[in-house]
Amino acid sequence: MKKTDILVTGGAGYIGSHTLVELHNSGYRPIIVDNLSNTSLENIKGAENIIKNKITFYEFDCTDEDQMNELFELENNIEAVIHFAAFKAVEESVREPKKYYDNNIGSLEVLLKIMKKYDVNNIIFSSSCTVYGSPDILPVSESAPFKKAESPYGETKQLCEKLIDEVDLNSISLRYFNPVGSHDTCLIGDCSADKPNNLVPIICEVAGGKRNTMQIFGNDYKTIDGTCVRDYIHVVDLAKAHLAALNHILDSKKIKTAYNIGVGKGVSVQEVIDFFEKINDLKISYKIGPRRAGDVEEIYSDNTKINNELNWFPVMSFESALKTAWIWEKNK
Ligand code: UD1
Repeated sequence: MKKTDILVTGGAGYIGSHTLVELHNSGYRPIIVDNLSNTSLENIKGAENIIKNKITFYEFDCTDEDQMNELFELENNIEAVIHFAAFKAVEESVREPKKYYDNNIGSLEVLLKIMKKYDVNNIIFSSSCTVYGSPDILPVSESAPFKKAESPYGETKQLCEKLIDEVDLNSISLRYFNPVGSHDTCLIGDCSADKPNNLVPIICEVAGGKRNTMQIFGNDYKTIDGTCVRDYIHVVDLAKAHLAALNHILDSKKIKTAYNIGVGKGVSVQEVIDFFEKINDLKISYKIGPRRAGDVEEIYSDNTKINNELNWFPVMSFESALKTAWIWEKNK
């Protein structure tokens, strides 16, 4: 039977590569477009190794309309697009906002134009809990308003969701909380940035000796132990949520919606470090530093909507996320 073609922009990235595996395992044919600007070819090779199959890969920038046109000419059976390709470092977005607006919004604009031209009517968009800004009610649900974004990165995610809302396409925006961990083979993972900005990759670098120490950004928040609280979702669960969203969008006649994807439980920065030390049986050198600009005090997900409508539930443990994150770091 012919497989359904799914275009995965940013498919060589951290979440993209995990999603390739789930797509293939469920009988879809993923096609990657990625400029490898903030990831590595190793992730595609890793995914191919896991699924024991080659994956079609186009290496170029999604903002390049001519090349996108060529791709859609060649691949004329695409049924849906999962759009991951974007910059994602919050701090960098504060320093270089234009880079974020140009790339994150620019690539979506090109994609929407080409999808319309080639009559591809289904898009799954990689959004973020950052669209809520600092929410008033926790856990935060999809009906919460978009408050002022804490960073240009956050603003691009809000604008992209609004852009998608305005076009006549089936769309699902997936609002990720904090993705962590790796596939259990540890053949794919987070290859972004020489100097990671996210908590778990930084803890791993301290554990592996790439960094001598790290800081907890603030311990004077109004939270359980004074450090910021986040909802850490295993990247394999997150990849499976894309599959559930894809099945749903392809089954729907008309759909425009958004889902939170988290675990539904808040964990503090201090708790993440303590747990990492315990399960990996090592010591992390850290000190308490000042608050980081743009940080939200506390955020975690209300998953009721995706549980009820897509029957998606997180099943992976936080323990396995922190173990595989550490193995991935050691294998790098
Ligand atoms: C942010 C975005 C999220 C986005 C992600 C991508 C918000 C609310 N969230 O996540 O949507 O997908 O970036 O990169 O904007 N921390 C330390 N020390 C460190 C590093 C981090 O204490 O060295 C703390 C941070 O202050 C934060 C927590 O760890 O409280 C998690 O930080 P991080 O992993 O960078 O993710 P977010 O900023 O939550």
